[in-house]
Amino acid sequence: MNEIRIFVPATIANISCGFDVLGLCLDSVGDEMIIKKTIKKGITISKVIGQELPLDPNKNVAGVAANALLKNLTVDFGFDIVIIKNIKPGSGIGSSAASSAGAVFGINEILGKPFSLKELIPFAMEGEKLASGSAHADNVAPAILGGFTLIRSYEPLEVIKIHTPKELYATIIHPQIEIKTIDSRSVVKKEVPLQTAVKQLGNLGGLISGLYTEDYNLIGNSLHDEIAEPYRSILIPEFENIKKECIKNGALGSGISGSGPSIFALCRGKENAEKVSRGMKQVYNKTAIAFDIHVSKINERGIKILETK
Ligand code: HSE
Repeated sequence: MNEIRIFVPATIANISCGFDVLGLCLDSVGDEMIIKKTIKKGITISKVIGQELPLDPNKNVAGVAANALLKNLTVDFGFDIVIIKNIKPGSGIGSSAASSAGAVFGINEILGKPFSLKELIPFAMEGEKLASGSAHADNVAPAILGGFTLIRSYEPLEVIKIHTPKELYATIIHPQIEIKTIDSRSVVKKEVPLQTAVKQLGNLGGLISGLYTEDYNLIGNSLHDEIAEPYRSILIPEFENIKKECIKNGALGSGISGSGPSIFALCRGKENAEKVSRGMKQVYNKTAIAFDIHVSKINERGIKILETK
């Protein structure tokens, strides 16, 4: 194989109760990437379409992740990367994760899969580190593995793929304001009172149990965030009104997608997810802020190969 074109999905990290450990993969939103073998060794990024991002591979998350992978192999050729960026940086749906995950996935495929999908995660995390100053895995893991993923441990890294209930859909509203993950992380308190930790642990256990047993009420009851949302929600216009509207329209629950500003709702069935999207729209139509809305099934496969040559 000399060339691969892939669809790299957007992701929702945290999912309210799983700060830095839980994530899910979306189906209808994502970037495309084209990766080609080159005679010249090393990584080049020849084009980024759709967004203003650096082409220098040391300054672009895709280049950093790709180089982290190549450090572990001996190859006497290089790779060129083209990124067709549909996920806006600073949107909270895993823009940097998609570029990082796509780069390592594509190169690994061209090389005949020297690494397993799980082994690619630490390389992609290097891209996240460049983007946000922290090597969190809760976006790159679901982008690469698909479905819901849990980071059981960071040191050593242990990632578990969690069962996806068949009727689960996500609705996401992305207000067109940019919140950098690095800034959004800085507002979260470094210490958590015991009572807060107890609540968060109960909800995280409840959500995992609800996913495995396809208990939609339990999933909804568990979607609360005691750790990041109280501080981050202040940065997001109409956050409380959106949450109220989601519940009014039958969503199981809702919260901040990753580090924001996107807000997600989990819903049972596509029809409900679309009703929730109409409710979200009504709230933001009353403001002057532009927004995008996505309704997506949970993507259980992760990155998709579109073409190989
Ligand atoms: N877990 C990370 C955070 C996700 O909340 O900062 C960033 O997308």
